[in-house]
Amino acid sequence: MSVDTVSGEGLRAAMVDQLIADHANKGLTMRPEVETALRVVPRHLFTPDARLEEAYCAEEAVVTKRVSDEAVSSVSAPWLIAEMLGQAADAFDGEMYARHVLEIGSGGYNAALLRELVGPSGSVTTVDIDPDVTDRATACLAAAGYDDVTVVCADAEQPIPPSRLYDLIIVTVGAWDIPPAWTEQLVEHGTLVVPLRTFGMTRSWALCREGDRLVSRSQRLCGFVSMRGAGAHDMRYVDVAEGVHLRLDEGQQVDPGTVGGLLSQPPVQVWAGAGLPPRTVLADLDLWLAARITDAGQQFLVLSAQQEAVDAGLVVPAWRFGTPATLHDGAFCYRSTLRWTDDAFDLGARAHGSDAAAAGGRMVEHMRAWLDAGSPSPVLQVLPADTPDGDLPAGTVLDKRHSRLVLTFTPA
Ligand SMILES: C[S@@+](CC[C@H](N)C(=O)[O-])C[C@H]1O[C@@H](n2cnc3c(N)ncnc32)[C@H](O)[C@@H]1O
Repeated sequence: MSVDTVSGEGLRAAMVDQLIADHANKGLTMRPEVETALRVVPRHLFTPDARLEEAYCAEEAVVTKRVSDEAVSSVSAPWLIAEMLGQAADAFDGEMYARHVLEIGSGGYNAALLRELVGPSGSVTTVDIDPDVTDRATACLAAAGYDDVTVVCADAEQPIPPSRLYDLIIVTVGAWDIPPAWTEQLVEHGTLVVPLRTFGMTRSWALCREGDRLVSRSQRLCGFVSMRGAGAHDMRYVDVAEGVHLRLDEGQQVDPGTVGGLLSQPPVQVWAGAGLPPRTVLADLDLWLAARITDAGQQFLVLSAQQEAVDAGLVVPAWRFGTPATLHDGAFCYRSTLRWTDDAFDLGARAHGSDAAAAGGRMVEHMRAWLDAGSPSPVLQVLPADTPDGDLPAGTVLDKRHSRLVLTFTPA
């Protein structure tokens, strides 16, 4: 066995090279300080039960704990960690040095990367609700030589003792809401990076504190294990056909039989007839559709499907892990897979039901409006739950338990 195989150095270098290439493919540039940290921290020491190749696989998380088959803890996927650290570093214009950071959700690896980024005069505290995870993180951090990370076992829904402020709070578990503790523990102009579910779709938002509100600086498509404890929020899947599901957010009701019945009716395909500019971020379009459909008073849903259902032609979703859909006026409609025209991709909608053509037409109208507006990206503002309607900025309002979210769109 070569030294390289034992230490993982070669695999780590290859992983970082791949992450840089992935960034470039998405039109992103990895910050040098993030790259340096990724090159230095021995990820395999935080995944001792995984093979070296798994530890250094850029795309995959390494699951470290399951409860009844459900993954409840993992060392997150390198691509996602790199993008979220990039969001944080961007929010500070690259000045991460000497920052004080709270990480919510511990695995040890991200805390070690943060330790590298903030340097000896900064600090890193990591909190996890699960003592198995904090014990494991403590042991892995010690083995990798990061003894100066503070590891706390607590439910991060509440303020983390000792009471103090942080420049950066980075949440590494899927949240449904922003509890007041997170805003209150941030310094003014501090940054919260959080994978937040809105309209059933999760994005990692970098939010800057401005008084009692948070305003987004960037967002990225992502997926995470769900928050446990007092902030846990159910997401349910209902089957509407063999291998076809609707993902329902808390409180959403839908009759699966109705949607299943509509899906069994012949489809109508409608095209937007618009060539997509290169590098269009369709995740932004999906939030636009969610906002526009909600503003129009129609029911917004998220469709997901097994590969077998797609192969069988039961559904043709744009993205089988979560595609915008709507149920309205006796028709079920969703964003369908792209088509290649002579020189560009085109957007489409697939609809079933009594007035399927009209439903598909409405959805592609929203798509055209987004393209005509310059493919704008979403901007999120988070305000306290008791903010009166009159004090809300203009935009699509989504009420959560602790906060009022307002989504707007600005041209890229
Ligand atoms: C994806 S893992 C964290 C990955 C880690 N940051 C790393 O270095 O890769 C998510 C963690 O969040 C934790 N968690 C879930 N709910 C929590 C809560 N309410 N408070 C604190 N931690 C929580 C889980 O126990 C799990 O260990």
